[in-house]
Amino acid sequence: MTKIRVITHPNIALIKYWGKRDTSLMLPTKNSLGITLAALKTTTYIEPSPSNSDLIELNGKVLINKNNPITSFLDTVRNSLGINKRFSISSKNNFPTASGLASSASGFAALAFGINSVCNLKLSLQEISILARLGSGSAARSVHGGFVLWEQGKHPTGIDCYASQIFNGDWWPDLRVMIAITTNDAKKTPSRAGMQQSIKTSPYYSQWLVESESRLHTMITAIQQRNISLLGKLAEQDWCGMRQVMLSSKPVLDYWSDTSNRLIKKIISIREKNAIEAYITTDAGPHVKIIHHAQDTSFLMKELSRDAGVVTLVASHLADNPIVEEK
Ligand code: PMV
Repeated sequence: MTKIRVITHPNIALIKYWGKRDTSLMLPTKNSLGITLAALKTTTYIEPSPSNSDLIELNGKVLINKNNPITSFLDTVRNSLGINKRFSISSKNNFPTASGLASSASGFAALAFGINSVCNLKLSLQEISILARLGSGSAARSVHGGFVLWEQGKHPTGIDCYASQIFNGDWWPDLRVMIAITTNDAKKTPSRAGMQQSIKTSPYYSQWLVESESRLHTMITAIQQRNISLLGKLAEQDWCGMRQVMLSSKPVLDYWSDTSNRLIKKIISIREKNAIEAYITTDAGPHVKIIHHAQDTSFLMKELSRDAGVVTLVASHLADNPIVEEK
């Protein structure tokens, strides 16, 4: 029996996705663009189950309750591919899970690769991205390393809604993202529920969609030119737009903690006082990600580590493509 090991990484959006036009097929309301981070890693082992049910272990804990996102994903995949195999899965993250660090992106991308190998499906990367998308939207992007564009597509079945690599991880060797991990806890409102709440209730949602879409092409130019000032400015604008949408949702979606808000102010002040290119993005969680150049990593580490609310600081370069191998 084949046992497969898959190594994947979270993909953090520079141009965000927040909201679905079809919640069962996980089709987004907009295009998004993200970078896959090498320092955050998901290692997943998958093989056929020796019994008639799926056996799932996440971060060393067996999932006993069948009502969990991994089992639902496996059921959806079995349905959509017409297979009935059960799987034995053991997956571990080297970073907090379900906390706003895109663990679902790397987790579901790993499962899509793993199922493809265990069942010998011979799917293309586009098809694997589509499969991963059924677990979590951003997982469509984690199928690739480097800079990744997830196109919303037009087809009602979602066949044209997958992610592609636009530049690989080596394209910009000195680009770094520092991740200030501020808690090990899971978030209170999962993204899946939060984003649909924003579509329904935020008065700024449709405006953000239009503005964000118009940033996408300039973002691709910024990457092409390795222009960190432009990339950082656009990433911050896009994140601020998403944050405004979240904070204007009803009930309010405030994913940030006092530590996050302090760090955001601190980074802006470091940038202004020291003329350092350091730009902020966050997701649906309290961790702060700082886009910067490798030459500034140690200065930023020193400055940010002074904050008592920071649990860990990790600086990451961009990841290569996922690794899929027989074990
Ligand atoms: O992949 P999901 O469905 O958990 O949503 C993630 C959404 C954000 O991380 C907030 C933004 C993004 O584009 O990754």
